[in-house]
Amino acid sequence: MSKHRGAPPTVVVIFGASGDLTARKLIPAVYNLAFDNLLPADFHLIGFGRKEISDEEFRSLSAAAIREFSRRELTPEVWARLEGRATYVAGGYDEKEAFVRLATQIDAIEARLGREVQVLFYVSTPPTVFSPILTNLGCSGLARRKLGSPLHTKVIIEKPFGRDLDSARELNRVVRSVFEEHQVYRIDHYLGKETVQDLLVQRFANSIFEPLWNRNYIDSVQITVAEEVGVGTRGGYYEGSGCLRDMIQNHTMQLLALTAMEPPVSLSAEAVRDEKVKVLQAIQPLRLGSEGDVARAQYAAGMTGGKVVPGYLQEAGIRADSATETYAAMRLSINNWRWQGVPFYLRSGKRMARRVSEIAIHFKRPPGTLFAAAGERFQLAPNTLSFQIQPDEGLGLVLNGKIPGLETRTQPVKMSFRYATTFGSNTPEAYERLVLDAMIGDGTLFIRGDEAEASWKLCTPVLDFWREQGRAGMDSYPAGSWGPSNADMLLARNTHTWRQP
Ligand code: BG6
Repeated sequence: MSKHRGAPPTVVVIFGASGDLTARKLIPAVYNLAFDNLLPADFHLIGFGRKEISDEEFRSLSAAAIREFSRRELTPEVWARLEGRATYVAGGYDEKEAFVRLATQIDAIEARLGREVQVLFYVSTPPTVFSPILTNLGCSGLARRKLGSPLHTKVIIEKPFGRDLDSARELNRVVRSVFEEHQVYRIDHYLGKETVQDLLVQRFANSIFEPLWNRNYIDSVQITVAEEVGVGTRGGYYEGSGCLRDMIQNHTMQLLALTAMEPPVSLSAEAVRDEKVKVLQAIQPLRLGSEGDVARAQYAAGMTGGKVVPGYLQEAGIRADSATETYAAMRLSINNWRWQGVPFYLRSGKRMARRVSEIAIHFKRPPGTLFAAAGERFQLAPNTLSFQIQPDEGLGLVLNGKIPGLETRTQPVKMSFRYATTFGSNTPEAYERLVLDAMIGDGTLFIRGDEAEASWKLCTPVLDFWREQGRAGMDSYPAGSWGPSNADMLLARNTHTWRQP
């Protein structure tokens, strides 16, 4: 990677150091950055958590996490570079003294290195303790450390950023009472995915798409984020969240914003995020009710990966009368010059037929005079451009072509570009890119406060409506299927159907 990606001397502090995300994603991300020599020479990692464990125990837990979850093996040389720079601070998130201890440890690291360092805090705890952590970072003076210099403190805040518009606003208020917006990196790991970043490149580094990228040529857009997994052991969390909060408000909405936004004036963080906010704000309020723009459902027992799996209501930690959706779909209208009249369909669900995330742009049909004879000869499909975000990352374009032979017959054909074929398959994980970007101070792939609020503004009336409805209107779909019939109805009203990715 080029030199301009170099980060200054940094201490990364992970709050929630013994949590699941830390083991699965954050420690492996730091390790892979070390592996690629992308960490600054003066780097230090501090785990902060409630568990009373020693530095030694933190190091061995980290090594175990790398062995289990890293995309690359733990090698003694790389680990030797990291191990001695990992320490642990035990303390409560609301315990002021613990933050004083943390500050003392950071000062001691700086003194030992003999140079100034920036501190990057990563708040990776349950959201209930976001506020005490932020408040204590303020009280201890850590938040304003070196403010005004390039080595100012930065903070990454994990999702969920609020659970509705009011709580997101309140969290923004707490964040801004302690930090300046430019210090804050609200994470949505989908933005760190290679293919999501490629969406910007495809849209704005190729001239063939832009002339077509509007209501004159595009018929509709479908964004799918389907998962094969169920709620697994996360029933406790999921029951209080549901698909709209867990996937749609953040990941799916981000894909929509990048697909639909206007070209930014530059690639600076503010220019890109200005455009995302504008397009999110142009989305019309969703119509609720039986003929409305939203559908929800829960998975029922079914088959996945050749195994019989239980329905959501039978999963551990789920109430038998739960009204939490595991699937949500919506039809959005963007009321601006470019998109008026083009429906954007979003769907996400657990226990669907297979894991796939994609954005599919459906183009209008050409005037149908030439290849319109009735019968089998002319099979034509609308041109569709699909960005496959994961897995099997790539881009596909459905065109109509002539079947070789002595008479003119047509059929849809597909052109495709696969990342794995062109670039190989060991691409960096989203968290690697995002942790590095935050260390460097590049906020482009993070959510700005107003952006989070714009998205919650759209989703909150739906959540309120569903809460009032209880289980009324909750559909179901067999595990391992493509979703419920109420979502099919949502499209059928516009004579559309869901694409099978
Ligand atoms: C998380 C959700 O944000 O994203 C999970 O909380 C979900 O429920 C996960 O499984 C999906 O991420 P990915 O990167 O596996 O598509």
